[in-house]
Amino acid sequence: MIFYFSGTGNTLWAMRKIANITGDMCFSIPTEINGECKYTIHEDERIGFVFPVHGWRPPKIVREFIKKMTIQSNNLQSHYCYALCTTGDDIGMTMEYLNKDLAEKELCTHSTFSLKMPESYVGLPFMDVDPKEKEIEKKREATIMLQDFAEKIYDRERRINILHHSHWPWINSKILGEIFVKWLITDKPFHVDTDKCVKCGICSNVCPVNDINGGFGKIPQWKHNDMCLTCFACYHHCPKHAIEYGKRTSGKGQYFFK
Ligand SMILES: Cc1cc2nc3c(=O)[nH]c(=O)nc-3n(C[C@H](O)[C@H](O)[C@H](O)COP(=O)(O)O)c2cc1C
Ligand code: SF4
Ligand code: SF4
Repeated sequence: MIFYFSGTGNTLWAMRKIANITGDMCFSIPTEINGECKYTIHEDERIGFVFPVHGWRPPKIVREFIKKMTIQSNNLQSHYCYALCTTGDDIGMTMEYLNKDLAEKELCTHSTFSLKMPESYVGLPFMDVDPKEKEIEKKREATIMLQDFAEKIYDRERRINILHHSHWPWINSKILGEIFVKWLITDKPFHVDTDKCVKCGICSNVCPVNDINGGFGKIPQWKHNDMCLTCFACYHHCPKHAIEYGKRTSGKGQYFFK
């Protein structure tokens, strides 16, 4: 079984590749979290977690899902468990955070992987999507690496940790990560340029947590109910570039995996 979350499609692409090779069943975390989150695992089945890095940690919906989930098995530790995260460039201590959460469920990853993919975060003044050439190059390299990772996962290879770290993982994940969770995960700054908006409803349809009131024929409105993950799927998918995040996205690019 593969539990996954993706905002702008990078991780969805990676997850599909792994599922194609392993044949494992996949479960979308934003859908699953609304249910009981109880799973029965079959003998010899793998357990995978596939998600993007958000603020040098697993996204909050992934952490909340792990808290809620239960997997029934006679011997949970005997199942091969892995995680793959997609990242702009630096995962910090994401896998340490994940394993701390998994330990509460008597689980621990046997192997971990990170895949550098095009940048999706545009919520701070100095952050923008990658230039086109960099986006193409990242996808080219990721395609090669993903094939290798998926084969290692298929073969249940253990003690493999291929991860992108920078110099300050502790500062990034613990200190900046905390600021990120406390102050930057919010839908409050989102607003729409009503002159540009064509009321197509795409932003509302792509939101993984149904945080946008709207749809075809309506100007979208964010619910401000603490559900937003700041995944920026709404911003990136808008065909008219009509969504802004305060003044922080002014003049910035859009990206989603096609
Ligand atoms: C809210 C948010 C926070 C992010 N934080 C990080 C980060 O800490 N380090 C990093 O390398 N990339 C970061 N990124 C970039 C994403 O991890 C990367 O673009 C990922 O591939 C997006 O996956 P998705 O398309 O499946 O949503 C962040 C993106 C978002 C939306
Ligand atoms: S409102 Fe936009 S940024 Fe927030 S979760 Fe939905 S799609 Fe992602
Ligand atoms: S995706 Fe853009 S154009 Fe379509 S409803 Fe949303 S804001 Fe308006």
